[in-house]
Amino acid sequence: MKISDIAKLKSAGPSSKKRFVYNGNSNKEDHSGLQIRKLMAGENASLPEIKNNIEETYNNCLENVKSIFNRAAIDFGIMPSCTQVQDMVKNIIIQLQSSSVEIMDLFMKYEEGDYLYSHSANVTFLSVMMGIWLNYNMSDLSSLATAAFFHDIGMLQFRDITSQTKKLSKQEREQVDMHPNFSSQFVKQIPGLDKKLSETILFHHKRLSKTNMDLNEHAQIIGLADVLEAMTHPRPYKAALQPHAAITVIIEAMNSCFSQSIVKVLVDNIGVYPVGTWVWLDTREIGLVIDVNSGLPLSPKLNIMFDDCMQRLPRTRIVDLSKQTNLHIKGPLEEKDKSRFKDALS
Ligand SMILES: [Fe+2]
Ligand SMILES: [Fe+2]
Repeated sequence: MKISDIAKLKSAGPSSKKRFVYNGNSNKEDHSGLQIRKLMAGENASLPEIKNNIEETYNNCLENVKSIFNRAAIDFGIMPSCTQVQDMVKNIIIQLQSSSVEIMDLFMKYEEGDYLYSHSANVTFLSVMMGIWLNYNMSDLSSLATAAFFHDIGMLQFRDITSQTKKLSKQEREQVDMHPNFSSQFVKQIPGLDKKLSETILFHHKRLSKTNMDLNEHAQIIGLADVLEAMTHPRPYKAALQPHAAITVIIEAMNSCFSQSIVKVLVDNIGVYPVGTWVWLDTREIGLVIDVNSGLPLSPKLNIMFDDCMQRLPRTRIVDLSKQTNLHIKGPLEEKDKSRFKDALS
């Protein structure tokens, strides 16, 4: 599947997810800056309240990763209780189901230092979001979230290798590639956890192939979340890709590695140009992606903020490319272009 084919994909139907719209250019609300509007009908909670709840849930997940992983690091000696894990993932699911979130805000988080913690939290949140988009029930979401939470705990065995700032040697890579086995063994030792989890975790780096077409769907979701998270965050040996570039790699190079339905649900909901991406239009105007039209990943909603001479427009204008079919995105702005107009935003 190529980018150019994406537009031809049939819509998966109206999304039930609730979403915020990022509408601006600074960190103030409404008329003078960052404006995030709720689109969902019947939503009573205020936006700051929703954002705070999600933020708190994310931070709680991150703290749990740290404390559980650090205790387990002692020879995998201290196991969390099944209830502790289930309560935590249930809270994550309820928060994401009931309030949804601007997804890029979440999985773009990154902590300096040991990336294993934020990576595990990010993959957990992203996997749950994908499960929600796939209409998973609570039981499946819980199983998926728990597997995502623990998928890389086996990396603790290889910290001396992964903390290096150089690219891994072939031999080191082969050792680190054993981490799903260790992660899988770890969850087997938590009494009461679903046995299916260990298989999901064991296969999170397996990919579809001609000889392997019936790979566990939870493993595929975690695998795709894992790839996207890893590409969009820096590592000691590589820089982060912009979300648009990462989505492009997934569509063009990794589409055959995962079920098309899973790739589609991700691209449908995040878009080819994720929220927050600056883009050129074919008119040479510049806009910021503020929302995605589910099923039309090349036609998001934009806030057009600069004219064809890169001059700030006195009044920005919101355009829905799914309705205004004579306008098209030419491509994302490169970093060097962004710096040229950053001053105009301040
Ligand atoms: Fe992994
Ligand atoms: Fe991972």
